[in-house]
Amino acid sequence: MSLLGRCVASFCVLFFCASILSAQDGAALYKRTCAACHDSGAERVPSRETLKAMTLERVLAAMESGAMIAMASRLSVAERHAVAEFVTGNSLGNASTTVPLPQAMCADAPRASNDLMSGPQWSGWGADLANTRAQDAATAGFTAAEVPRLKLKWAFGFPGDVSASAQPTIAAGQVFVGSQGGRVYALNSTTGCVNWWFEAPVTVRSAVVIGRVETESGTSLAAFFGDVFGVVYAVAADTGKLLWKVRVDSHPAARITGSPTFYRGRLYVPVSSSEEASAIAPDYQCCRFRGSVVALDGGTGKQVWKTNTINEEARPTKKNKNGTQLWGPSGVAIWSTPTIDVKKNLLYVTTGDNYSHPSTENSDAFLAMDLDSGKILWSKQITPSDVWNTACRMPDKTNCPESSGPDFDFGASPILVTLSDERSWRARSLELSTPSIPTSVEKSSGRHA
Ligand code: HEC
Repeated sequence: MSLLGRCVASFCVLFFCASILSAQDGAALYKRTCAACHDSGAERVPSRETLKAMTLERVLAAMESGAMIAMASRLSVAERHAVAEFVTGNSLGNASTTVPLPQAMCADAPRASNDLMSGPQWSGWGADLANTRAQDAATAGFTAAEVPRLKLKWAFGFPGDVSASAQPTIAAGQVFVGSQGGRVYALNSTTGCVNWWFEAPVTVRSAVVIGRVETESGTSLAAFFGDVFGVVYAVAADTGKLLWKVRVDSHPAARITGSPTFYRGRLYVPVSSSEEASAIAPDYQCCRFRGSVVALDGGTGKQVWKTNTINEEARPTKKNKNGTQLWGPSGVAIWSTPTIDVKKNLLYVTTGDNYSHPSTENSDAFLAMDLDSGKILWSKQITPSDVWNTACRMPDKTNCPESSGPDFDFGASPILVTLSDERSWRARSLELSTPSIPTSVEKSSGRHA
């Protein structure tokens, strides 16, 4: 056979192979690349049953842009498709319908934009800039005494999803909520019908925050949120039309889990990552992600400032026992919503652990940043030397750091409260048995700022 003939023949064979990867191949690939963890019953690893209940799109997204990038990095596109088809028992050709049915859509046009801030509301994660998550009856639309009498009015099932973790936002008679499948819905709060939905390619875990912004066509209300690929979106709150989107960190595992905070035309975005889980793969070069806060112009999405929680970029450190290069420092993700101290012009965040050595002083800490420049003005570390990644919990601990830490990330936002004096705070904290998180912020800011 001529060289050309051979090339054509091998091309055909390759093409043929790619197009007929079967369920059987999917099963074999799953067994080889996924089963060691997913059939192991190990803590936090979704079981085979749980994976089966997920949509095909979600399993694919996990391998292509989510927590499983490193596990699936050796698979071709066709192989990833075969695995996703095998795992979910669905075929790409007839992936389950995950869009709302026509009868779920609202018949009436949604209310005009300038109407949007009237009526009961809860916008963003903390309901206010101090992240108190407390409201008076006028803002909430009902009193505390009425709570026991609340009855189910309607229920909305997220099409194609098996879990829901985004907190709903309420503004102007609408409920804005993100979903596992990446869709953000605006529902009519009276009937639950769908005013609009917006399609992000991956999960939106953050709460939506509503803010008034200047755009080319004048002032309008925008709904802001972030996805688990590190992309921040602004859409028109009345129509769901995209105003802008921007990926705020170039690391492949960067993601947004905490809701952005909106204040005076600017959006303050906390940046986290799934690199902690990438480290499970023993040939993964752990780890290079750095947590950050990014301030964006609400009208354009342009970056105003970005402050990393670790000053320096990761550099090569040592090799793991398999000879894979390791990097550090890394981690110090920000999982939760920033808190704003209007009086002091400060922004507070809480941080997570380091993923690899060396440890740094801003992990598991409170940070206070200047609102205008992003400069870190003070920090208070609560758990030093907490160097940990998900490999520490797996049977293969190759990438688990030596003398690994307790994995004590801060998951919650700082809460800003005003105290009359130390004694009244002590009395109150005993009464409520709340942790002393708010005092740390207030006391530290009083001392250093
Ligand atoms: C070394 C262990 C390991 C291997 C190998 C592995 N996974 Fe995972 N997988 C995990 C862990 C741990 C989680 C939970 C991660 C988290 O919650 O951050 C997970 C989560 C997932 C999820 C859920 C993601 C989501 O959206 O919540 C999917 C889907 C998934 N894995 C698919 C796969 C597939 C398909 C393969 C094979 C190509 C694979 N995994 C290989 C450990 C593994």
